[in-house]
Amino acid sequence: MGLNNVLVWSQVTMYLLTLLLALCIIIPVSFHLVDFKGHCLLFSNGTWRESDGQLVVNWGYQGFCTYNISWAGVSLFIALIQVYRFIAQICRGTESSFLSAFIDILLSLFMSMAALAGALMITIGYQTWCNAIMLRFEACEDATTNDIDREDKINTSMFYMQFGTAQFGAWTSWVCWVGLSMFSMLKVCKYHQQENIRVSMARERARLVGDRHSPLREL
Ligand SMILES: *[C@@H]1O[C@H](CO)[C@@H](O)[C@H](O)[C@H]1NC(C)=O
Repeated sequence: MGLNNVLVWSQVTMYLLTLLLALCIIIPVSFHLVDFKGHCLLFSNGTWRESDGQLVVNWGYQGFCTYNISWAGVSLFIALIQVYRFIAQICRGTESSFLSAFIDILLSLFMSMAALAGALMITIGYQTWCNAIMLRFEACEDATTNDIDREDKINTSMFYMQFGTAQFGAWTSWVCWVGLSMFSMLKVCKYHQQENIRVSMARERARLVGDRHSPLREL
């Protein structure tokens, strides 16, 4: 197995991982939206009402959750296509062209940024929500076993696990996309080297051929 195959197999493995991690974001965040009746807890805060101990929530923008479902969906889609493409290449014994390797770099860099934005959004937005919860509870987790907002009819039993999973998925996805950017850069570097070798060999051959045809040129 050549170095090129090792590189392609690494890419396939990494894309498969990215695919699974995208599911770790899409599934819990979607269930969260169902549990919270379409509200997104990211960047939501609130005040505790003295009279009945309920949280009066000032809901954040729902787009914080839909953004995360969206970029993870794009991530899943790209990973699926890439796994298919690279496995087909391995089976056929072909290589990607210089152009497609270059497009892979741009795509992975773009997805790294989208993932970083999503991961930051989840971590900071979740912290904002937990800060509101922890004005009354010892730990953010305690809100899962208490009725904190009867008015909105939200089900808080799963949010802790859902956002734990989503947070893990988002940060690990980001690491994967950065890794994938590096792999595709490595590939382009390798193509560049091969091209250099090919050109210098062609030049060398031309020189030798030229010499043979005019053996007396030096004289
Ligand atoms: C909230 O969701 C959990 C898990 O999905 C479920 O077991 C529980 O019955 C739900 N609670 C209410 C009040 O609907």
